Amino acid sequence: MQTPIYDFAKKYAESKTVRFHMPGHKGVRFHGLEEYDLTEIRGADYLFEAEGIIAESEAQTAKLFGAAKTLYSAEGSSLCIKTMLAIAEHCRPDRSRRMLVAAPRNVHKAFINACILLDIDVCWVYPKEESRSLCSGGVTPDDIREAITSADRTPDCVYITSPDYLGTMSDVKGISEVCHKSGIPLIVDNAHGAYLKFLHEDMHPMTLGADMCCDSAHKTLPCYTGAALLHISKSAPAAFSGCAKKLMSLFASTSPSYLIMESIDLCSAYLSGEYKAELEKTVLRTSLCKQRLEAMGWKFFGEELCKLTIAAGECGITGDELGDRLRSFGIEPEYTDPDYLVLMVTPFNPEADFLHLEDAMSHISPKQGAPIKFDTVPRAVVRLPIRQAAFADCEEVPVDKAKGRICGMTVTCCQPSVPIAVSGEEITADIIKLLKRYGIDTISVLIP
Ligand SMILES: Cc1ncc(COP(=O)(O)O)c(C=O)c1O
Repeated sequence: MQTPIYDFAKKYAESKTVRFHMPGHKGVRFHGLEEYDLTEIRGADYLFEAEGIIAESEAQTAKLFGAAKTLYSAEGSSLCIKTMLAIAEHCRPDRSRRMLVAAPRNVHKAFINACILLDIDVCWVYPKEESRSLCSGGVTPDDIREAITSADRTPDCVYITSPDYLGTMSDVKGISEVCHKSGIPLIVDNAHGAYLKFLHEDMHPMTLGADMCCDSAHKTLPCYTGAALLHISKSAPAAFSGCAKKLMSLFASTSPSYLIMESIDLCSAYLSGEYKAELEKTVLRTSLCKQRLEAMGWKFFGEELCKLTIAAGECGITGDELGDRLRSFGIEPEYTDPDYLVLMVTPFNPEADFLHLEDAMSHISPKQGAPIKFDTVPRAVVRLPIRQAAFADCEEVPVDKAKGRICGMTVTCCQPSVPIAVSGEEITADIIKLLKRYGIDTISVLIP
């Protein structure tokens, strides 16, 4: 496989060309990475009008993921999410009303930001089964079917997050079939699942029927922070691919990081080579680690093969406390909250990391805890469109005084940025309970 972006940067660095262009470091080593950090000079192509090395690299990556088109993002899945919703908005057949998206509540903040920027309405989908966490949606094809048929008007698209932060996987194939029967595109936030394509059984959303998805390459693949991919499927309307770059450029910086793009370029070459075999070994080792920890009495949650989500609350310790205990052994988890602790694994975790983790966990005794109970995700009482409320005049009030008021700027739990109260919703007693659970004392509400 070719690595055109990296090759160009390397050749350029070796040419010792005098740089009278950005960036300010001029390729002179200062932090150590400057040489290959470029700007859109001649030959380096333009991310949003790609015809040269970037187009070539993106096309190779699209092929690798079985996509009709893949766009590189140097600004994470956050940029891809806004772009995917802009594409859906631009290409929907009837634009006489505000776009309506059906989505489970465990969306990332970038989704809400897109709703604010693009003036989108959301019909929230609530799983039949009680959620185990705010960030774990777990909706089924039936939940989606019911949401589509019971909405005031037919949604313009369905948007799901799978895998979610705790490693729950939705039935993307089943959900895509439901969507396509109703003639609605499916968008998947696959920020945590770039690697799913390379598992023994390919579980990537592009394979399972999604029309568009985003992968945060930086979360699970060896890419620099900010690297992400927006994939458009071969079965999606051709118009999606046609407008994608222009729409992405609406939200993006005009100075995309070449270091990030070079890391994706090099990563794609790695993915097409030894990665699959290495991933297989990692999946097996992760499963063994899980078995060993289970034998010590630790309980787990979620289905994702490269995540270890420990249901700490059920083991008589909070996720946050367990995180601190692990830190005292020199181990930093991905995420902790009162109920869970999440560890993310890739082939770049050597055997020593697993042994270290197993040893540390053997020094922390699990106890008998209570089953994790989560106050059900509050049902939204929508009083105003999201955009209108987000831009309205607001004041900050203590949460105890907010009952009955309308939420101004959306409030998310700080990690993993899932909304508790969305702009335009009435602040109910359930929302107040949830705000307190996440330690939030004040909330922005509209000035009456
Ligand atoms: C589920 C989910 N979607 C989207 C994002 C945003 O991804 P990025 O950080 O690549 O912009 C995150 C970030 O944590 C996430 O957890």
